[in-house]
Amino acid sequence: MRRRPAYLTNAQAAAVYDRIGRWQDTQAFYESPAVEEMVRSGDFEQARSVVEVGCGTGALAERLLSRHLPEDATYLGLDVSSHMVSLAGDRVRPWTDRARIVGVDGHSPWPIEDHSCDRVVATYVLDLLSPEAIATFFAESARVLRTDGMVAVTSLSPADRGAAHLLSEAWMRLFSVDPRLTAGCRPLVLADHLPAGWHTIHRDTFRAYGLRSSVLIASHS
Ligand SMILES: C[S@@+](CC[C@H](N)C(=O)[O-])C[C@H]1O[C@@H](n2cnc3c(N)ncnc32)[C@H](O)[C@@H]1O
Repeated sequence: MRRRPAYLTNAQAAAVYDRIGRWQDTQAFYESPAVEEMVRSGDFEQARSVVEVGCGTGALAERLLSRHLPEDATYLGLDVSSHMVSLAGDRVRPWTDRARIVGVDGHSPWPIEDHSCDRVVATYVLDLLSPEAIATFFAESARVLRTDGMVAVTSLSPADRGAAHLLSEAWMRLFSVDPRLTAGCRPLVLADHLPAGWHTIHRDTFRAYGLRSSVLIASHS
């Protein structure tokens, strides 16, 4: 019988990312193409209220607030790692009137009113979560998004041939031994986790330095 992979608990994820801290930004070398595409196709210039789940060091928050969001749009970043909450808090300080970072436990509903925002963003976060936690991510997104809202996500993605395939297999083997060896992440087919009632607006895949990533923009009806 095939063993179910182990996933980091929320407490383990918090401990891993407390340690990683600002080193997370060094991953931009393979994450950038997918994040660029997500920002391009997520139509952030029209957003009024953005929530980012797993905001890390606040790099995307800073970018959205300084270059993409309208001047009156609000931003809320959520993270389980108190160190990341502190780093991201420093990063959004120039926008304290409309940007906030809040620590979460990863279990409880997000501290957000129903139907109160129009973008839920998560870059390289769903690939840490168990299938059940990904389902909860989409259920919470459906709860907090307005009718015209969108989810915009990126994740590592498996490759089916060539060097990228070998790399994603090796990554998966490491993850299966102990998810802490890959900082909790594993390649994931985002489309396989999109629950009924969600519609794909845009999706794409990118390869950078042998690692494949996916972008998914989706809305809920
Ligand atoms: C791989 S890092 C990505 C950080 C950032 N989004 C980026 O692209 O650089 C994953 C982040 O998600 C956070 N995280 C993990 N599980 C979470 C959860 N259930 N809720 C909120 N944040 C979570 C981690 O603490 C970490 O900051």
